[in-house]
Amino acid sequence: MSKMPNPRIEKPLNPRPTAVVVGASSGIGAALARLLGQKGYRLALLSRRKDRLDQLCAEINQAAGERIAYAYPHDVTEFDQVPPLFQRILHDFQTIDLFIYNSGVMFSLGPAEYDFQKDLETYKVNLLGGVAWLNQAAALFHSQSRGQIVGIGSIAGDRGRIGNPPYHAAKAGFSTYLESLRNRLAPDGVHVLTVKPGYVQTDLLPAEHPPLPVATPEKTAEAIYRAIRRRKQVLYTPGWWRLIMLIVIHAPSFIFRRMKF
Ligand SMILES: NC(=O)c1ccc[n+]([C@@H]2O[C@H](COP(=O)([O-])OP(=O)(O)OC[C@H]3O[C@@H](n4cnc5c(N)ncnc54)[C@H](OP(=O)(O)O)[C@@H]3O)[C@@H](O)[C@H]2O)c1
Repeated sequence: MSKMPNPRIEKPLNPRPTAVVVGASSGIGAALARLLGQKGYRLALLSRRKDRLDQLCAEINQAAGERIAYAYPHDVTEFDQVPPLFQRILHDFQTIDLFIYNSGVMFSLGPAEYDFQKDLETYKVNLLGGVAWLNQAAALFHSQSRGQIVGIGSIAGDRGRIGNPPYHAAKAGFSTYLESLRNRLAPDGVHVLTVKPGYVQTDLLPAEHPPLPVATPEKTAEAIYRAIRRRKQVLYTPGWWRLIMLIVIHAPSFIFRRMKF
């Protein structure tokens, strides 16, 4: 009996690899989606703002000269929706080769502000949504003994600074989760990359930040793509942040807690 063609994806047997980007509607995620489209990937693009996703898909499809990018509007804090949506994407594309979790929020917090609602949202988007999605990717990649996972963390996860406790803690937790995934999945030949960007010019970057250079989302996406190709484990981008964070990580607490940084 012949199988019915999949109505959603026009070319299910397309030899292009498939990448899923969660948090693709703006900033680093949108730049990554554009770059991966240029590099030959088919794309499942997720986030809440459907209009932004539709616009991005149209742009990528026009540049590719064929339909390679598809929008899946989704709020990562709706954890129950993650397993069925993962299965739907897998069904639509028939394969997933690269899975990127990029969604993130950062609320401004006053120096004496302790707001559990802001904290909860930060942990849900920056940590728990990542765990919900990457657990799905890890189980698939383990079963097929191949695949690449990328988690967008931050230099903010390397140390608990004064500015934004939930953001630092969520990024630290996500980084440790990614390290565990890497160690669990290495025997299967599955690659896990942790990305720690410095300051990147996006909607998320606060107007006031320390006077250090700010990277573009495009340059950041290029560095991430190179790290995916080279199967790096941890990427600081730009690379000089690795040296700065080495100093910050090793700064003794009696000095560190006096710093405004
Ligand atoms: N910019 C920086 O300086 C910097 C530095 C280090 C790390 N990072 C990290 O880089 C990642 C990307 O951020 P960005 O700088 O590119 O900022 P951005 O332009 O604000 O992008 C954030 C992305 O997360 C998505 N997102 C937020 N809440 C979501 C939710 N509930 N459900 C689904 N998606 C959600 C947004 O999509 P919707 O709003 O459409 O849902 C958007 O696509 C974040 O994880 C951030 O923490 C940024």
